[in-house]
Amino acid sequence: MIIKKLFLHNFRNYEDETFSFTDGVNVLFGKNAQGKTNCAEAVFYLCTGSSLRIRHDRQLIRTGCDCASVRAEAVNRYGSIVLEAEIYENRRELRVNGNKIARAVDLLGNMNSVFFSPGELRLIQDGPDERRRFLNLSISQTSRNYCTALLRYQRILDQRNMLLKERDVSLVLETLPVWDEQLVRYAAVIIRHRREYLSLLSPLAQEAHAYLTDGAEELLLTTDRDYEGTEEEISARLSAELVASYDRDLRLGFTTAGPHRDDVKILIDGKDAKGYASQGQTRTAALSMKLAEVEIFRRLSGEPPVLILDDVMSELDLPRRKKLLSRAEGLQCILTCTHAERVLYGTETNKIRIAGGKIVP
Ligand SMILES: Nc1ncnc2c1ncn2[C@@H]1O[C@H](COP(=O)(O)OP(=O)(O)O)[C@@H](O)[C@H]1O
Ligand SMILES: [Mg+2]
Repeated sequence: MIIKKLFLHNFRNYEDETFSFTDGVNVLFGKNAQGKTNCAEAVFYLCTGSSLRIRHDRQLIRTGCDCASVRAEAVNRYGSIVLEAEIYENRRELRVNGNKIARAVDLLGNMNSVFFSPGELRLIQDGPDERRRFLNLSISQTSRNYCTALLRYQRILDQRNMLLKERDVSLVLETLPVWDEQLVRYAAVIIRHRREYLSLLSPLAQEAHAYLTDGAEELLLTTDRDYEGTEEEISARLSAELVASYDRDLRLGFTTAGPHRDDVKILIDGKDAKGYASQGQTRTAALSMKLAEVEIFRRLSGEPPVLILDDVMSELDLPRRKKLLSRAEGLQCILTCTHAERVLYGTETNKIRIAGGKIVP
């Protein structure tokens, strides 16, 4: 998977810019607040239909403009592909090879990328939301089935939560089973996919972590609860759990059981990394998870993803930078930093200087 060209039009602080990328390491460098991350964000947006930094797409539109557009020309395992997004105030249009796609899900899997930035420390330090978000985005990129189940689950969950706030308790109790029946069906798909994904991710992250720390520490990822069995068995058990939570759910006004409450446990040498790991350990653990993600994409889709390293080099010590770069070999990498020469140690790179939302020739 190689992105050849990226066109940005009224996207963030870019007016009109064309990036030409090579298949190795592409370095976007320049002072702070010039547009390096914005460019990396555009790539990620085309891969996933979302950005890690925003709540509303409209934030991507250049101030004072009506519409932003992003287009990438890439080569994946099937040949050339063109991905486009036109982003308006309240809607967007996505196109693959010029054909408008109806659902964002259809964008997934055309172009995979793994995004690593200092913000990814949240993956370890913050609450379960961040870890679920990681799983959801990562699994969605390799499984549209998961993504669809997730969207439907979320929609039913929202409706169920609305119902729980209803005053007429007998009506609520009458209607809940209808929602529950659908809810557990999608929940089981989500749970099964997450279980399979984690069973791939954990050993790969462990291996990457051992590599980065020279085997000094051991990283382990597990789910915070074990759902065994087939989808049918998971559904049945969850169904019973939902019924058992009716009282609590009614009292609290939201659904307290289900995969939207699950977490991933991250253990370093057997201890919960959250609240225990140092900054350095946290960074290494998060990076290991991201490198594992790269490997999973490579295995599941048969080709490596684009690795986006946003502002992470300066925070890693020298041996780790070198190790990271050696892991990035054979991948297309988009790397942002303020000082290109200091981080790369003679690695052959395509350097692009950015200032004020423009490429400086
Ligand atoms: N929608 C927008 N319209 C215009 N400028 C924007 C928009 N969103 C962000 N910016 C500008 O982009 C700059 C930040 O770019 P960024 O890529 O994060 O910088 P860096 O080069 O440090 O990675 C800031 O100056 C910010 O004001
Ligand atoms: Mg930045």
